[in-house]
Amino acid sequence: MTKRDIEIMIEGNLEYQLIEALEPIRHHVLATGIYHLFNEGIYDKLLESDHSIESLAKALHFDETKLLGFLRYLANEGIVEFIDEKVRLTKKSKQINEFRGWYTLMIGGYGHTYLQIGEKLKEGSGWAERDSGQVGVGSCQMSKFDAIPLTRSLMAEIPKECKYLLDVGCGEGLYLVEFCRAFPNLKAWGVEPSKGGYQAAVELVRRSGLEERIVLTNASALELLESPFKHEPDFLIVGYVLQEVLGQDGESGVSKFLTGILERFPDIYIIVIEIEDQITNKKIMGHSMSLAFYNPYYLLHYFTNQRLEKLEFWERLFEKCQLEVKAKKFADINVDSTDLTVGYLLHRKQS
Ligand SMILES: C[S@@+](CC[C@H](N)C(=O)[O-])C[C@H]1O[C@@H](n2cnc3c(N)ncnc32)[C@H](O)[C@@H]1O
Repeated sequence: MTKRDIEIMIEGNLEYQLIEALEPIRHHVLATGIYHLFNEGIYDKLLESDHSIESLAKALHFDETKLLGFLRYLANEGIVEFIDEKVRLTKKSKQINEFRGWYTLMIGGYGHTYLQIGEKLKEGSGWAERDSGQVGVGSCQMSKFDAIPLTRSLMAEIPKECKYLLDVGCGEGLYLVEFCRAFPNLKAWGVEPSKGGYQAAVELVRRSGLEERIVLTNASALELLESPFKHEPDFLIVGYVLQEVLGQDGESGVSKFLTGILERFPDIYIIVIEIEDQITNKKIMGHSMSLAFYNPYYLLHYFTNQRLEKLEFWERLFEKCQLEVKAKKFADINVDSTDLTVGYLLHRKQS
């Protein structure tokens, strides 16, 4: 019997076909399980030390039987293991710790959104829900890999020392804390409209002991323009936020925001981080990173009042707002080689 004969036999086998058909369900439940493992503090407790189910349940105030079932499930997926009546993280699960932000964003923030797709396909059905707090927190956790290094590299192109950072749509406030730590003379102002993101930022700033240097406001980009400015920022970061304003308030809303900021602070430097819409580009979408992240990420934008655009769109809009592109860079190719995450450094055009 040839290798091909064996392949045909396996492919014709009903059980084999069923297992293949169930594979997406397995991954769906596993991604959800890993999210809960992180989000409920179980992962961090197990990082500290191995635990018996009893001590873990007690430490986290969990129902022992449910926790046991949850961990037995994860053990079968190779995420935890039971050794001598104790549960511990496996090597495989220790490797995903760094990437928990993707679980916070895509499952905590948008897990519910994906389940609403059917209902929201209907005409006039409005937007699907999302957990904005988790979106802001997850996005910040992920930004350690892409947007924060990209922002730092764009900042290095600013021809003066930055003293006051304004971060609009700051989510959990991680940029504020990271930059204040990196630049001891820097002060910062974070603006975040979602209650959950704003609360997470207040908590992070408090935990970091930076209350003296970081102020926070619970408002949207356009609400900010309408409120009196108590601070004098010399650079602004909008990380994955113009796509939100574009969805909510259209092109005129983004223009209003950018020109309003320029009127108020004519010499300000603006760093924009965005993701380019390339959902129809077959070559790019064939990349494993595109299939692992960007494809589901693009999908959620169609259902949640956010609008991604091509780079030409943004560059035309900056031009209309009298902004000059001083530098344009992409995320580190060691983390993401698709060039879909882009950063711009902008400054008012000299007339
Ligand atoms: C994808 S997260 C990005 C968070 C952070 N800037 C980062 O780079 O990781 C988008 C953030 O924009 C906030 N946002 C949504 N609509 C906004 C608006 N109209 N004005 C300002 N921020 C907005 C969301 O609440 C969320 O925290």
